Amino acid sequence: MSSSNPLFNKVIIIGLGLIGASLAQAIKNNELSTKIAAVDRHKPSIKAAIAEGVIDQGSEVLSEVASGGDLIVIAVPVKAVQGVFVDIQQAIQTGQLAASCLISDVCSTKMTVIEAAKAVFGDNIPAGLVPAHPIAGAENSGYYARRADLFVNHNVIVCPPSSASCHAIERISRLWQAVGAAVMTMSPEHHDKVLAHTSHLPHLLAFNLVGQLADHDDNMDIFRYAAGGFRDFTRIAASDPVMWHDIFLANQSAIVSALDEFSDYLGQLRKLIVTEDSVAILGLLGRAQAARRHFGHMLTSTPYTATETAAASYIITPSRCVSGTIAIPGDKSISHRSIMLGSLATGTTRIKGFLEGEDALATLQAFRDMGVTIEGPDNGNVTIHGVGMHGLKPSKTPLYMGNSGTSMRLLSGILAAQDFDSVLTGDVSLSRRPMERVAAPLRDMGAQIQSTGQRGTAPLSITGRAKVGRPLQGIEYSMPVASAQVKSCLLLAGLWAKGTTTVLQPDVSRDHTERMLSAFGYPVKVEGQHISVTGGGSLSACDIAVPADISSAAFFMVAAAIAKDSELTLSQVGINPTRTGVIEILRQMGADIALSNQSQVGGEPVADITVRSSNLQGINIPASLVPLAIDEFPILFIAASCARGKTVLTGAKELRVKESDRIAAMAEGLETLGIDCCVTEDGIIIEGRGSKHSHDAIFTGGSVASYHDHRIAMSFAIASLRASDTIIIEGTETVNTSFPGFAELANSIGLSIATKLA
Ligand code: S3P
Repeated sequence: MSSSNPLFNKVIIIGLGLIGASLAQAIKNNELSTKIAAVDRHKPSIKAAIAEGVIDQGSEVLSEVASGGDLIVIAVPVKAVQGVFVDIQQAIQTGQLAASCLISDVCSTKMTVIEAAKAVFGDNIPAGLVPAHPIAGAENSGYYARRADLFVNHNVIVCPPSSASCHAIERISRLWQAVGAAVMTMSPEHHDKVLAHTSHLPHLLAFNLVGQLADHDDNMDIFRYAAGGFRDFTRIAASDPVMWHDIFLANQSAIVSALDEFSDYLGQLRKLIVTEDSVAILGLLGRAQAARRHFGHMLTSTPYTATETAAASYIITPSRCVSGTIAIPGDKSISHRSIMLGSLATGTTRIKGFLEGEDALATLQAFRDMGVTIEGPDNGNVTIHGVGMHGLKPSKTPLYMGNSGTSMRLLSGILAAQDFDSVLTGDVSLSRRPMERVAAPLRDMGAQIQSTGQRGTAPLSITGRAKVGRPLQGIEYSMPVASAQVKSCLLLAGLWAKGTTTVLQPDVSRDHTERMLSAFGYPVKVEGQHISVTGGGSLSACDIAVPADISSAAFFMVAAAIAKDSELTLSQVGINPTRTGVIEILRQMGADIALSNQSQVGGEPVADITVRSSNLQGINIPASLVPLAIDEFPILFIAASCARGKTVLTGAKELRVKESDRIAAMAEGLETLGIDCCVTEDGIIIEGRGSKHSHDAIFTGGSVASYHDHRIAMSFAIASLRASDTIIIEGTETVNTSFPGFAELANSIGLSIATKLA
C-alpha cells in the first residue's frame, strides 16, 4: 500500500521495541507520514533506526523531537506511560506540540492508560487521546525483531474514552487500517475485562504451570519428556516477565475475577474426575472441543454454522460421461431426528452414518448447548448420552440454527414444551423463511412463542412452561400444506402435552419422525392421514443406522440419466416411500432406474440404485408426487431441460419458501444457460431441448447465481454434463449444509468441478 497523500505530517513513536519499531516500519513502508521520529532510551536502537531509514529523527527525550508532531504513539510498558504523559504535557505547554496533537498507545491494558492521563491532565484529558491495542506480537522482542507486516490481518481494538473527539477516533482507526489491521472499537473498561479472559489469564496459567513444574525435584525429566501438548500450552510462558508482571498488576481486578471463575470451573472438573462422572466429563470436554472448533472456524472465516461468512464458487468444465459405484452421505432429515430423539431418550444412543453437514451439526450443537453429552461426530459415528424427557437445560446463548429450517421448526416444538425460555436464531436465508406455520399451531397448544417482524420470521423467542404455569394441551390440527416439518414440530411438542395431539395432513409427507418415535418405543397412531401421539410417555435409547440421503443421491441419479454412455450405482440409499417421488418422476420421464439389494435398516427401507443413460421425455408432473419429491425439483428441472418436449410442474408453491425461492432461482439460471422456461405462480413450464437419439449439449456456458441455496448450486453443477462451455456457480459454500464432499465425489465419477474460495 502506498499513499500519495500521507495521513500525518510527523508521527512520533515513543519506544522502539517490537511493536513500536514494527509500527514505525509499517508507517514508513506505507508512506503514511511525511516524517517519522522516535524516542527511546536505548541509544543503539535509535541509531540503527536512523541508519536503516526506518525513522528520520530520534532522541532519548521527547523535547528534542516533539516539534511539529501531529501523532504520538506510546509504545512503552504500561508503568512508564504516566511519565510519557508528563513529557507530552510539557511539550504542549512549551508550544512544541499543538494541543490538538493526537495521542495513542499500544499497551495491553487500557484503563491504566486512561488513569495515567487523568493523573497528569486531571479532568481535561486531551480530546486527541485514543488508546488502542494491536492484538499482535511475536516470540522475539526488541527493535531488531520488527516486522512491517506484524499488524496485517490482525485485530486492533481502539478504545476511545468519553473525552475523545470523533475526528481523533477516525484518524487513529485509519492509521491502523492503513497498516493492514482490522479495527474494532470497545470501551476501555470492556477491553480490559475481555482481555483478562482471553489473553491475561492464559499467560498467567502458562507461567504458573511452567513454574509449578520447575519446582519439582525431577524437573529435568519432566521437561525432557514433555510432549507437544506441554509445548503448545506453555509457549507463551517464554514472553517477557517484566511486561506480564506490569500487565497482571495493571489489570488486577479483571484478572482476579477471571481467575476466580477459572478456579470454580477447575474445582468442578476436579470433582467430576474424583467421582468418575464419565458422562459429565465427556460432556464438558465435548462442549469445549466443539467451541474450540467453532472458534477455529471463526478465526479462519470458514463456515461452520454461520454459513454466510465465506463465499465460494464452482468453476465447472463440461464433461460427458459418468460411471462408478459411490456412497452418498447420510440422510439429513434422519440425522436431525436421531440427535433430537437420542438426546431426549433414557440411555445411550449410537448413530452410524450421521450426516456431518452444517445443518445436522447445527442441531447437534444446539443439544450440546442444552447440556447433552454427545460424542463425535467421528466418521459418521455419534454417541448420545440421553438426558430423558425432562433433562434438557437452558442454553446460555441463543441457539443458532444456521441455514437449517428443519432444526428451527422441529426444535421450536421441543422447546415450546420445556420449562425454560429459549431463543432460536439463524442465518440470513433462514431468517427470511416463514415460521408462523409452526408458531401459530403451537400457540393453539398453549405455547408462548414470538416470531419477529410482520412476516413471522426468526429469531423466535419461546417462553418456558415454568413461567406460563401450565403444560401444553394436545390439539387436533389440520395442516394447510403437507409439511413434514410442521407435522414433526407438533408431534414433538405433543410428547409433553396433556392429552392427544393429532395432525391431519392434506397429502403424504415424509414420515421419519413417526418411524423414529416408534423405534425409540414411543407409540404413534397413524390412521390414513391422521397422525397422533399422546403426551407423557418416554423414549428409550436405541441404535440408529442412517441410510444415504435420497435427496443427495438425486443429483447423481439425474447425472447418470442425462449423460452419454453412463452407468452409476448409488449404494444403500434410503427409499422410504414418502421420499421416492424423484424415482417415480424420473421413471415417468423414461429414465432407466433399477433397485437392488433391498433391505430394512433401522426401520427405514434401503436399496442400491443403478441408473443408466436414457433419452428423457417431458411430462406433466402429477400433483400427488410433489410432496414426495419436494427437495428434488431443482435437479428435476435439469432433467426436464434435457428431455424432449415440455415438462409442466404445478402445485409446488412451497418451492418458493425453501432455502431460496427455488422456482425463481432455477428459472433465472436455466435462462442464463439457454433454456426457455415460463414461471407460474405455483410451478414452472420447461421447454426441454433433448432429442430422441443424441446426448448433445443442451446448456450453454455461463455464470449462474445459486442464491446461497445448496440444491440450486449442485443442480447446475450436474448441468455441466450437457453444457457446451464452462459453467460458473456463485455462492456454493452452502453445499456443505447437506452434502459435504459433493464436488470431490462428483469429480470422482467424471465431472470437473474446481472450487474457488473468495
Ligand atoms: C424436511 C421436510 C421438508 C424438506 C426439508 C426437510 C424434514 O420441508 O423440504 O428439506 O426433515 O422434515 P417441509 O416440511 O417444509 O416440506
